[in-house]
Amino acid sequence: MPTIYVDNQAYEVAAGQNLLAACLTLGFDLPYFCWHPAMGSVGACRQCAVKQFKDENDTEGQIVMACLTAADDGVRISIEDPEAKEFRKGVAEWLMASHPHDCPVCDEGGECHLQDMTVMAGHVYRRYEFPKRTFQNQDLGPFVNHEMNRCIQCYRCVRFYQDYAGGHDLVALGTRNEVYFGRHEDGKLESEFSGNLVEVCPTGVFTDKTLKAHYTRKWDLQTAPSICVHCGLGCNTIPGERYGILRRIRSRYNGHVNGYFICDRGRYGYEFVNAESRPRSVIVAGEPRDVQTASSQDAVSRIAGLMRSAAESGRRVVGIGSPRASLEANFALRTLVGPDNFFCGMSDREDRLIRLIVDILRTGPSRSSSLRELERADATLILGEDITNTAPMLDYSLRQWLRRRPNLERTRLKIPDWNDAAVGEIVHEEPSALYVATLAATKLDECAARVYRAAPSDLARLGFAIARQLDSAAPGVPDLPAEIAHLAQTIARDLEKAKRPIVVSGVSCGSEAVLKAAANVAWSLRARGEAAELCFVVPECNSMGLGMMEGRPLSEALQAADEGPGVDLAIVLENDLFRRANETEVERFLGLCAHLVVLDHSATRTTAMADIVLPAATFAESTGTMINSEPRAQRFYKVFAPAGQVRESWRWLRDVREASSDDEGAKRENTAEWESADEVANDLCRTFPIFAPVLEAAPPAGFRILGMKVPRQPGRHSGRTAERADKTVFEPKPPDDPDSPLAFSMEGSQEQPPTALLSNVWVPGWNSAQALERLQEDVSGALRGGDPGKRLFEPPVVERPSHFLDVPTAHSPSGEQWLVVPVHHIFGSEELSMKAPSVEGCAPEPYLGLGPRMAERLGVPDGGVLTLASDAGVRLLEVKVMDSLPDDVAAIPAGLPGLEGLATPFYARLVPRGETDE
Ligand code: SF4
Ligand code: SF4
Ligand code: FES
Repeated sequence: MPTIYVDNQAYEVAAGQNLLAACLTLGFDLPYFCWHPAMGSVGACRQCAVKQFKDENDTEGQIVMACLTAADDGVRISIEDPEAKEFRKGVAEWLMASHPHDCPVCDEGGECHLQDMTVMAGHVYRRYEFPKRTFQNQDLGPFVNHEMNRCIQCYRCVRFYQDYAGGHDLVALGTRNEVYFGRHEDGKLESEFSGNLVEVCPTGVFTDKTLKAHYTRKWDLQTAPSICVHCGLGCNTIPGERYGILRRIRSRYNGHVNGYFICDRGRYGYEFVNAESRPRSVIVAGEPRDVQTASSQDAVSRIAGLMRSAAESGRRVVGIGSPRASLEANFALRTLVGPDNFFCGMSDREDRLIRLIVDILRTGPSRSSSLRELERADATLILGEDITNTAPMLDYSLRQWLRRRPNLERTRLKIPDWNDAAVGEIVHEEPSALYVATLAATKLDECAARVYRAAPSDLARLGFAIARQLDSAAPGVPDLPAEIAHLAQTIARDLEKAKRPIVVSGVSCGSEAVLKAAANVAWSLRARGEAAELCFVVPECNSMGLGMMEGRPLSEALQAADEGPGVDLAIVLENDLFRRANETEVERFLGLCAHLVVLDHSATRTTAMADIVLPAATFAESTGTMINSEPRAQRFYKVFAPAGQVRESWRWLRDVREASSDDEGAKRENTAEWESADEVANDLCRTFPIFAPVLEAAPPAGFRILGMKVPRQPGRHSGRTAERADKTVFEPKPPDDPDSPLAFSMEGSQEQPPTALLSNVWVPGWNSAQALERLQEDVSGALRGGDPGKRLFEPPVVERPSHFLDVPTAHSPSGEQWLVVPVHHIFGSEELSMKAPSVEGCAPEPYLGLGPRMAERLGVPDGGVLTLASDAGVRLLEVKVMDSLPDDVAAIPAGLPGLEGLATPFYARLVPRGETDE
């Protein structure tokens, strides 16, 4: 480890850093603007000036920028040198010259890096007496607000947006003192990561437009560590609440998962929690279906009574779980209805695919990589997954690899990774070893060495062919066209050369063969001694957790209503069945069940048909565990206590179990009376040992620091008295939280808590997210004390993996039937975020995608209308001609309203409007 000297004191620092990063990790207050821990240094702002000395005898020294100077062994600097201090003060003064000083009305106020750095640099008195430079602001769409007058020209925004997130439409315009950061014209920012500008910009130029609609200062927000619920990656988040309204989501640093950032679906999908349409009290549909409310106890007794009469009549009670509900909620349902009556709440195909992924990861030799590990890949094959739309932060991670991948010229010139200015200047001589094989064009295509478009079976055949190229023990692919064989050879060659090749695949194209092909490629590489890893994309926040819970397939539940004694009572947990199966089957099933009870936090077609709806808590009102795609167990905590009759699903189900056990006098499996989420998790781990690491993913509810809980509210929270001053000035007791070591209060331990409990990132002098640097082992490294979460398992040692042998046949058109494949949209394909108005407004209208040749063959122009006729019904759809779609397939957007229950891929007839007899 190098030793550096700061103001004559020796310090050991990690190798390969710049002086700014080293000083921040050591705890020095050194101001900066243009440097960002995730983006390195460009030396644009001159704010991080220090005095550097040649040796201990040098008394003159010279001003250098700490962010552009390597922290090499023996380097001597002074932060306190008067000339360096005066320099930094001057920089702050000139950066502030045109700043509007509108902190009291600026949304950034109180968590503003510019405020902190101005104070830190010592600038207090304004001498500039001339008119300030002013700009016109732009409408950048529903997510990000623009106030250009606050800009200090640090260039972080365009660097993040273009160089790191791959966006093109946010640019720096103008010259000298008139540089403008915006779009060429008003319009929604096109990047899927645009919301990170809110955190990247050190001032209030870019702020959260959804927060503006119900603005609250940072110090009035109650927060808790949480997990994003909008895809399977499980990015860590910090939701903020006040007065029972969820106000915003910020990213929560996790060095193994999402690093500093999240995607726009994760940031802006939260408003489903505030939806007017949410069931917030028990709803009982009477006869005829008039809607009444009932007390919680009455509802529980009624359901217990239904269970009792079902038992008496010998008819079944089935429970249908959910991949968007926590492990605890799913387990509580399974415990209530019994393992034989617990059904997986995913479509059958998705269920099969998730189980296959679990099997590949548990029995095969390839490790599944985390997002951070993906950034260290040196060759990547994407097979069948449009990750920008299905797992956006995976796209972000791959872009980091592409930017930082090894470069001969950079190595020759000894340019360190953190020197972003120099790294950005050097053109890569080596082409990227990224190969994208998907159903249709993706945003990552522009970075890929080669792209391949094909139907799922042909994508799988390419994968099988690559595996065979790498290992003769893998099965061969018969009748492979020469050009595909050549492509397979090229990809195999690049993967073979790589030290850390990664194969990315997932469930979104609905093909088992694609997953098997991906596993074969990774396993063939392993057989050659390569450290090949796999990365599978799964659709929902707890798809993996539910997949490991051994529920029975959903179709069996749907059939159960038709068979034997039939179903008397169906209990559906946080799930809209109309998204999981064809609507005719679901309607038939629900019609055959004598009674339907639904627990959910959102109004859906399924809740609309329920006899009893129990209002369930959202992620923001409950504590629980989810398993991400890695698979990593991660704990999320209540941000605020559920109000009125809203309760965590597991608590509802526990009460029903207790009431029905009392009624029947019979005890079911796991009869312990759960008082906390920990107790449910303990029983879960006893029943399914694979989940044992769940108990280590976060401290138990009884954890205390010096006998105190960890406050959810920051020290400056306006307090409960102020919040209720219109009713009473007496301080009410805050709600209890038996599920966690967190308190609904600003009182409690002021020590740094374990990282799984960390949501208020603050150190004296650092009120913005940049306080984080003080809490990491080294900049951009793990949090001190380790990143939160716990991996469930590592791959077994396998001498020689046995490849999958079932190579599919090539896709061929089948008469009048066309293969319909899914196209995923970051805004539109996911259920919960579509209940947030800002996200819903960005979703496309349903359409039918056709390749140009196919559109011509069918005689339909772009914007024309065709009828899609399949077993799942008939739909009229507007045609969108998509240049990238392969011949002989059609595409529909996955998950959009009206298309949700269609289990793509499927075969359908495409007929001109009005020519169908269905
Ligand atoms: S808009 Fe913000 S991030 Fe961009 S240059 Fe200005 S101050 Fe920096
Ligand atoms: S990538 Fe997925 S988990 Fe991460 S923020 Fe986006 S939607 Fe949420
Ligand atoms: S942070 Fe060093 S020059 Fe800007």
